[in-house]
Formats: sequence, structure tokens, C-alpha cells
Amino acid sequence: MANIVLVGAQWGDEGKGKIIDILSEKSDIIIRFQGGNNAGHTVVIGNEEFILHLIPSGILHSKKVCVIGNGVVVDPEALIEEIEMLKSRDIDVDSSLIISDQVHVIFPYHKLLDELRETKKGKAKIGTTKRGIGPCYGDKVSRCGIRLTELLNPEVLKEKLAFNIDEKNALMRTLYDHKGVSLDEIYGRYLEYGRRLSRYMQNVPLFLNKAISKGKSLLFEGAQGTFLDIDHGTYPYVTSSSATAGGACIGSGVGPIKIDKVIGVAKAYTTRVGEGPFPAEFAEEMMQKIRSKGKEFGATTGRPRRCGWLDVVLLKNASMINGLTELVLTKLDVLDDTDKIKVCVAYRHGNRIIKDFPSNMEVLENCRPVYEELPGWKENTSSISKYRSLPSKARRYISYISKFLKKRISMVSVGSERTQTLIRV
Ligand code: GDP
Ligand code: IMO
Ligand code: MG
Repeated sequence: MANIVLVGAQWGDEGKGKIIDILSEKSDIIIRFQGGNNAGHTVVIGNEEFILHLIPSGILHSKKVCVIGNGVVVDPEALIEEIEMLKSRDIDVDSSLIISDQVHVIFPYHKLLDELRETKKGKAKIGTTKRGIGPCYGDKVSRCGIRLTELLNPEVLKEKLAFNIDEKNALMRTLYDHKGVSLDEIYGRYLEYGRRLSRYMQNVPLFLNKAISKGKSLLFEGAQGTFLDIDHGTYPYVTSSSATAGGACIGSGVGPIKIDKVIGVAKAYTTRVGEGPFPAEFAEEMMQKIRSKGKEFGATTGRPRRCGWLDVVLLKNASMINGLTELVLTKLDVLDDTDKIKVCVAYRHGNRIIKDFPSNMEVLENCRPVYEELPGWKENTSSISKYRSLPSKARRYISYISKFLKKRISMVSVGSERTQTLIRV
């Protein structure tokens, strides 16, 4: 099978975990390439639900190699907890997991700074997951970050930690009225994490490129979504990594010409967690209805997700930025009871109608949605197993989206289980 990159086409939580789980069956190696444990990817197998934060969702299939690429930031405590959780549920992690020795490590001061900064910002906060993601990527780009392999070198670790903690403590004391963190405590604990994780560490770019030359098929698992991307998202209300398709190459060490397909995953409506512009956001009544039917609460923080109509202006931009070759539509079943379904097809900004997603976020913040309305199908779709058995109005909705985007919709999901997936041939 081809080498595939799968990305979220909206603001995250599109159901990537479920689709990765399905595509994993035909892949040999599944690779996370960005983000950290801010992600929460849900996979449902029968009565069992797994929420994965760092380990690729392919881990639930036996005999697959699951890789955490260099572009990811790793909180060792969270990773060890996830490994233990999987082992306690009889998942064989030790023979499947490989972690790039180049990943940057999240330390306690990253998490603290994430929290302190958000609190100080008050109303202007981003609404982060407070997992230390932004401060860790900040250190990486500032060239004072600490890589996983450095947890294995006591002298180097002590020197780098001392420099960082000195700087961070000064900041915390002067600006945030916080006592700061202890070098000794962190140093000892992280040396131990290094020892525990050393068995998984490898030169990932070398491993992946050798695998490609042996004909193995790779599946790159995006986290977050296109509009949370540090460059292409709704900045500054974004995460701190490249969640778009280009990130797969940067975050794994595999060149772009090795990628055959780019699959975007989108919900049949839109959600986002945290602050930031959202033109097609529902009014209160519809918000409650869809949030409750779609169980729209964050898989990582449990926060209620903001919900809205499908925005195809947004999806058209996602298709362009990622170079999507196809789209997967999830959670169609959540719209089953809706009388009339709106689709945001353009934005109104003052007297202007905008058909392309604006690059200026001030413009986006002042946009009002322009909707087209389609009839709802008012039938239960969750037990349907073939695309052609969907109600004709549901098929009409899907083909409307497909025509607007000029993209094939290759899969439609009508429930969280593996079996609730309509694959179009
Ligand atoms: P991810 O971060 O993109 O992997 O998505 P999340 O796991 O955070 O959120 C998606 C949620 O929707 C999970 O609870 C899934 O089990 C669930 N889900 C996925 N596909 C469907 C679907 O087609 N219908 C319904 N009702 N739920 C779905
Ligand atoms: P998955 O992979 C939805 C959001 C946060 C916040 C912003 C920045 O499950 O789709 P961060 O902690 O990354 O600095 O927060 O990004 N965010 C997500 N929203 N799904 C996610 O991941 C997210 N990861 C981060 O809510 O608005
Ligand atoms: Mg999620």
C-alpha cells in the first residue's frame, strides 16, 4: 500500500484516531510526527474505548510498528503512563514502539509556564491544554531545548537543565510571583525517565527510510488540525507545531516525494476547543443539541467543545494547504435528527463577500457566515453498513461537499466503532 499522510482538516478532534485505526490494518508502520499529549485520539473496539495521547493509534493492531517521530514533544511522565495503561490492557507495546531520540522533552517548568502565562493573559488566553506544548516548542526553536537522548547523558542533562531552570525560575519569580522549580528534583526524576525509555529510542529517519526502501507502507498520523497549525492556522489561537501535511516530512525525516496520498479528516459539522475565531459557530440551542448528541467534550481535557455548521470555506483552504488527495467525513450520524442543515459557503466582511479563507485573522474575526441550506434526512444512519444504503438526502449532503471541494470523499463514518464506517470504492 501507499505511504499516506492523514491530517485533521478542521480544528482537531475530527475522528483521526478512528480512521488511523482503520487504515492501520493495511499499513506496516504508523508514525506520529508533531504535537504531544495535547492530542487525544479515541479508538473504539467493541465495548472498549482507548484514548491515545502520544502513541500512534495503530498500536491496537498487533505486529505494527508505531513510531514517535522527531517532530513530537514528549512528556516522559505522560508517555510512561500511557505505555503502562496499554500494557495493563494486554497491548504489546515493547515490541512495537520506537521513539526518535531527537524528540524534545517537556519538563515541569514548561507545564508551569503554560499555565501561568494563560492565567496572566486572562481574557486574551489561548485556551491551551496546559500540557507545556508551547513553552517546549519555544525552547526547541530558541535552541535551548533538551532532546530525549540527552536524558541518557547525566553531565549534559545537568548543564542544560541548570541553564534552563535558572532562566525559567527568574522569569517565574519576577513576572509570575511563583517560587519556581527545583533542579535536583527534576534532574533525578528525568534521569530515571531516560533509563526507562532508552529501550525505545532509535534513529527514526534512518529506520523509516530503510523501511521505505524495503517496500513497507507508512501511515503518518496527524494530531490537532489544519487550523491549529502554527503557520496556517488561526494564529495566535493555534498549537505550536506543524499540524498540516508538510509537518509529516519535517517531523519524521522522510522526504516529500515518498508521500503518495494525503487524506484529510473532517466532521460533518465543525468543532473547536479553546479560544479563537469560529464564523459558523452555532447559537446556544443547536450548540447544546449537537454537543450532547456528538458527545463533544475534549478527549484530553474534558472541556466542552464549541460546535458549528460545516464550513466549506475552511475545508477548501485545508484542501489547498495540505494538498489533499481525498477527504474522510466523520460523525454524519450526529446530524441524523437535524431538519435543515446549513453549510457555510462564504463569509461576509462589511459589504464584501469573501470566498477564500482570509490570511488576515483580524478579517476572519469580523466575518459573518453566508449559508446555504440543505434538507436533513431525519433517519438513523448509525447502523448502515453500505454507502449506497444511506438516505438519498444524506448522500446529497456528501456529494454537495465533494462537489464544492472538488475532492473525492473516500470514507464516511456513522459511529465511533470500526464497523460503522462506509468505505467507498
Ligand atoms: P481525534 O482527536 O481526531 O482522534 O478525535 P477525538 O477522538 O478527539 O474525537 C472524536 C470523537 O468522536 C471520539 O469520541 C470518537 O469515538 C467519536 N467518533 C469518531 N467517528 C465518529 C462517528 O462517525 N460518529 C460518532 N457519533 N462518533 C464518532
Ligand atoms: P487532537 O489531536 C483539539 C487546541 C487547544 C488550544 C490550542 C493550543 O485530539 O485533535 P496547546 O495545548 O496545543 O498549546 O493548545 O490548541 N488543541 C486541540 N484541540 N484537538 C486537539 O488534538 C488539540 N490539541 C490542541 O484546545 O485551543
Ligand atoms: Mg482529539
